[in-house]
Amino acid sequence: MTEEINESAFTHPLPEYDIENPVSISDIKSVSKLRTHTYIEEFDRILGGGIVAGSAILIGGTPGIGKSTLLLQVCQKFSEQDYLSLYVTGEESTAQIKLRADRLNVTSNNIFLVAENNLNVILEHIRKFKPKLVIIDSVQAVFKPDLESSPGTVSQVRQCANELIQISKKTDSSIFLVGHVTKEGMIAGPKVLEHLVDTVLYFEGEKFMSFRVLRAVKNRYGSTNEIGIFEMCKNGLREVKDPSEIFLSRTHSLSSGAVIISCIEGTRALLVEVQALVTRSSFGMPGRKVTGVDHNRVTMIIAVLEKRTGLLLGGYDIFVNVVGGVKIDEPAADLAIAIAIASSYKDVTIPGNTIIIGELGLGGEVRGVSQFDSRIKEAARLGFENAIIPKDNSKNSSKTESLKMAEVSSLAEAIDKFC
Ligand code: TYD
Ligand code: MG
Repeated sequence: MTEEINESAFTHPLPEYDIENPVSISDIKSVSKLRTHTYIEEFDRILGGGIVAGSAILIGGTPGIGKSTLLLQVCQKFSEQDYLSLYVTGEESTAQIKLRADRLNVTSNNIFLVAENNLNVILEHIRKFKPKLVIIDSVQAVFKPDLESSPGTVSQVRQCANELIQISKKTDSSIFLVGHVTKEGMIAGPKVLEHLVDTVLYFEGEKFMSFRVLRAVKNRYGSTNEIGIFEMCKNGLREVKDPSEIFLSRTHSLSSGAVIISCIEGTRALLVEVQALVTRSSFGMPGRKVTGVDHNRVTMIIAVLEKRTGLLLGGYDIFVNVVGGVKIDEPAADLAIAIAIASSYKDVTIPGNTIIIGELGLGGEVRGVSQFDSRIKEAARLGFENAIIPKDNSKNSSKTESLKMAEVSSLAEAIDKFC
């Protein structure tokens, strides 16, 4: 229950200052924002084509993923264009940053370092230096002495971020805020941080792999869901320009239960391998273990397989895995997952030069998918020869000669033909 105060007796007087009249949208002059390229292609693309002057970018990620490394490399790229950057470190000493810089071959006198936690001092530095680029590593370490709460608390982080963003807008410097990530994968501190900034990037990766994925989850100056892939090498992060190559292994042939799908990440098509393993379960309760795809989606696919194709999976454990630590969250992978499960169950191998695309309905029908042409193009580029595709898509797609397309309209038909 919430108390509601009766405000009907209240009249709202007009404010005393001059009221601006609403303006027709066609009368407002459009200003094109100035972007600075980092010439790290993957990075520029995620940001929508470069860093916008005066924009605030939050970059989150687990410790050790490479946030500081990436940003130092960005500083280097800026300095090569004769722009000043200011790197504020709240956690490491300047000597530690220098060590990293040596490793990355960052030797420029346009990059300035300062180890500082006090917000007021940092603001003063920005005001004085007017750098083109400011890095705050990390925003949780900064504190404003006037506030009573301790550093890293919600009110501190919000206030500090707010003032940093304000000043960067005023001085037209782009600001990067490094944010720690909690166990659940959210940026620690208030969610409100994500509302304050223009762009939110997450730096993700599997602990035991050298590949790192940078993902834009919010971007006022570009498209979201764009990803960039990097590899951590011994002297810094290197761009991976052809991601499909790393997620597909060409050195071994596919076994039963493995299929290749063409999924869309951001604006790019990406080919990945999905594997399923179906084994007789030794306990009463069959297990379903899934990595890289949504658990509920797989449960649904299993139910459709049982009901619409008569596969009896009740007594089997089912494992589904996406190779390379990639996460797929689009329905266009449904058909591929279903065929992977059926292929493992029947122990039939799907040829390795085949890609599978299609969404499944609960009735067992195979539905068309979006961005069909770019999926097919990517597969053709990488030398695939066959494609299992939804009938819906075959009507209005451009023909690609190098791929033989097999159209299916239902799951039962696909299983009949290929497993
Ligand atoms: P770092 O940028 O310090 O991570 P974050 O700021 O996100 O906490 O990167 C840390 C890891 O990267 C560290 O474990 C060492 C590794 N690394 C390399 O492998 N090669 C390199 O050239 C550098 C600088 C770091
Ligand atoms: Mg760091």
